[in-house]
Amino acid sequence: MRDRTTLNLVPFVSVDHMMKLVLKVGIEEFLKELSAYVEEDFLRWEKFDKTPRVASHSHDGVIELMPTSDGALYGFKYVNGHPKNMKDGLQTVAAFGMLSDVDTGYPMLLTEMTILTALRTAATSAVVAKYLAPENAQTMAIIGNGAQSEFQALAFKALLGIKSLRLYDIDPSATEKCKQNLAGFGFEITTCTSAEDAAQGAQIITTVTADKQNATILTDNMIGSGIHINGVGGDCPGKTEMHKDILLRSDIFVEYPPQTRIEGEIQQLDADHPVIEMWQVMNGTVPGRRDQNQITLFDSVGFATEDFSALRYIHDKLKSTGLYENLDLLADPDEPRDLFGMLLRCEKKLAGEAA
Ligand SMILES: NC(=O)c1ccc[n+]([C@@H]2O[C@H](COP(=O)([O-])OP(=O)(O)OC[C@H]3O[C@@H](n4cnc5c(N)ncnc54)[C@H](O)[C@@H]3O)[C@@H](O)[C@H]2O)c1
Repeated sequence: MRDRTTLNLVPFVSVDHMMKLVLKVGIEEFLKELSAYVEEDFLRWEKFDKTPRVASHSHDGVIELMPTSDGALYGFKYVNGHPKNMKDGLQTVAAFGMLSDVDTGYPMLLTEMTILTALRTAATSAVVAKYLAPENAQTMAIIGNGAQSEFQALAFKALLGIKSLRLYDIDPSATEKCKQNLAGFGFEITTCTSAEDAAQGAQIITTVTADKQNATILTDNMIGSGIHINGVGGDCPGKTEMHKDILLRSDIFVEYPPQTRIEGEIQQLDADHPVIEMWQVMNGTVPGRRDQNQITLFDSVGFATEDFSALRYIHDKLKSTGLYENLDLLADPDEPRDLFGMLLRCEKKLAGEAA
């Protein structure tokens, strides 16, 4: 229980504090710790209230609310997806989120989630790849070298030991940025001239492009047997990255089917096309990778439980790091029915100060 006198105060993690927190923990350690929270919540999947996210679509993008609860805690994220933003100097994806106590309904944490989304998306991709990637995978292609890309690279290094990266983006300056940012992390990095070139020799292919259309970043000829595809950028109706033929050759793994059927690569397939739910792979009821020739596709769209895990992780870090400030967010008079009296007392105080 929080102190009665401070119930109005809600810890707030700003962008500045989030950056300091990630750096204090160390980015790879942060990704490992966060991955453990993500995996833990997949393992108690049935405890969660689940719903496809609430999406408000517009011509150039989408604004989404992503709520979930495990019965004790409630979390939600506000996030946008506007691929055209980058050209105007804005983020394609920007977000913030909140964690609350189900017992009282009082918020416990408000935090930036733009950086946290990149971290949780990468952590989720890497957790999933632990179950699906071919054994001893060492090389990953990353197609789309924007805001999410370095986080993906580091999560796969931290969790799977990926050593070598093959980078491609239609904009060479994005690839150069990604290469330079990752220079100090010990990867062997190859810049590639096309998506096909990037896919050569990679055991894992991550697609993380942003384009508001049914794009064909990967075509069937690029995908050899045994590849694991981590498809991150296809996450909205009418916004996909893969040719349908790849889907028909792959075993497709998803987060929450009712949301993925609307938003994922599988929107290109019949509504009853078989997919495998990752929580069942993680708890061992359904196999992940069965053999070294199987093509596995993680049709990632990003699900609310992953944000919930991230919110939980950040909340658990608050005390030991002190990297937050208190926001006077809730009107919480000592006598709960005297909300109006609180207003009058404020008026009196202001009048006293003015006199
Ligand atoms: N699945 C999830 O959980 C999840 C989470 C976060 C973001 N996303 C999605 O990931 C994608 C990337 O996000 P971001 O924040 O890195 O965006 P960004 O705008 O920063 O970067 C996207 C990059 O993709 C490149 N690109 C566009 N078309 C391409 C093509 N045909 N071939 C190669 N590169 C191409 C752009 O040049 C750009 O550098 C977005 O579509 C976003 O919606 C998904």
